[in-house]
Amino acid sequence: MAELLFQKCINPHCGGTAAHTDTAFACPKCGGLLDVAYDWDRLPVPTSLKHFEAKWADPLDFSGVWRFRELFPFAPDGKIVTIGEGQTLCQRADAVAAYCGMNPGQLFLQYEGMNPSGSFKDNGMSAAFTHARMTGATRAACASTGNTSASLAVYCAAVRDMRGVIFIGSGKISYGKLSQALEHGALTLQIHGDFDDALRRVQQVSKQLGIYLVNSVNPFRLEGQKSIMFRVLEALRWAVPDWVVVPGGNLGNVSSFAKAFRELSELGLISRTPRLAVINAAGADTFYQLYEKQGLRWNDGQFDQSKIDAYYESLDVTGRKADTLASAIEINRPVNLPKALRAMEWCNGVVRSAADADILDAKARVGAGGLGCEPASAASVAGLRQLVREGVIDKDERVVCILTGHVLKDSDETVAYHSADQVTFDAKLGKRGVKAVAFANRAVPVENDLDAIVKAIEASA
Ligand code: F0G
Repeated sequence: MAELLFQKCINPHCGGTAAHTDTAFACPKCGGLLDVAYDWDRLPVPTSLKHFEAKWADPLDFSGVWRFRELFPFAPDGKIVTIGEGQTLCQRADAVAAYCGMNPGQLFLQYEGMNPSGSFKDNGMSAAFTHARMTGATRAACASTGNTSASLAVYCAAVRDMRGVIFIGSGKISYGKLSQALEHGALTLQIHGDFDDALRRVQQVSKQLGIYLVNSVNPFRLEGQKSIMFRVLEALRWAVPDWVVVPGGNLGNVSSFAKAFRELSELGLISRTPRLAVINAAGADTFYQLYEKQGLRWNDGQFDQSKIDAYYESLDVTGRKADTLASAIEINRPVNLPKALRAMEWCNGVVRSAADADILDAKARVGAGGLGCEPASAASVAGLRQLVREGVIDKDERVVCILTGHVLKDSDETVAYHSADQVTFDAKLGKRGVKAVAFANRAVPVENDLDAIVKAIEASA
């Protein structure tokens, strides 16, 4: 009996065919190009294209954010802004688990790099844009280490009724992210200073000019980011993990995640909450210093502001600026600090800080495991490894690490990490204090010569 599926020569005068398992990809009769061919008469073809529509009945349900909208019911359906965000995956990652000292089947990576602008920010941006539309705003602004600005620029370009204004620290943003802001047409202001300076300015300017602010100080943005946790639960078939590990920058995610679990708990939809672990970069570790070293606590809203003030003053006096290769979380004055303290209490949280070299090694392990992330994202994996070593997280607990942004956001850093060329390595990593890396996958230079190429491939086997 003829095959249901085969390969067929595109030349109607030839008629050559090949099995679907054939990998020569050339017609066995004439050497021409092949098509994949089906015996449609014997296959279950839908009778109408509406068959596919039924799989995504409502466009709002296509969004990985808005299909959970009953859990953040602040907008009428007609006002919702969506560009297909939140179609992201929670993948079991046994190789990365082994690197972290965990048992197989216990670690999952929530890959937010799959969002339209390549980071988790789109979850929140669709919510902020929806709220902005409800309030009649026509301009939206943010300060950014890069991803918020990329997301804002994409949404502005897609919806067309909002003008984007972006504040970035000069020389502080990776090219992948800067290119998105420019390509999508946002007004991009490079402030002489860092993220902390830019955030202060954007708050002043938004107030003065009445521009809608989309930084994570905007609570509607954080409502959208709750959906990351809803998708995690969905992927785990509604089983609550023991831990969620997340990088900490401006501390929006951790605040949003804790609120999601708190509300699910209050609504009787989950019977326990996971613990949260927030991972700072060692060069931008305000939250770690205040929470773990100085014992700052939420204290039912009566937290000790004087500890925070004294810490910030010491940064000013010593001229210490945030400094990490994980540029997305190069933040010393996290705007959501009080909310994050509350999150730690609600979810019995811990905070750790990870060195840049450890973050980059963790990033390479994540990449080798099949998901490409940017340095800040890998802080979650570096932090998990630390917490397993300390015995805070058990190797048999179920853990979800959030990978917040895509590997292509900062390809310069990735190429430098894997580079065999010392000059390239030093220019990007060496001069920022990274002495050696553990998992470099160096490109192999080879002559344009068949024997030499074959030899190089066989030598690597
Ligand atoms: N990971 C990535 C890739 C980020 O871009 C950010 C924040 C974080 C983690 C930290 O998240 O602020 O919720 O604690 N980026 C912001 C920006 C600050 O401007 O793009 P957080």
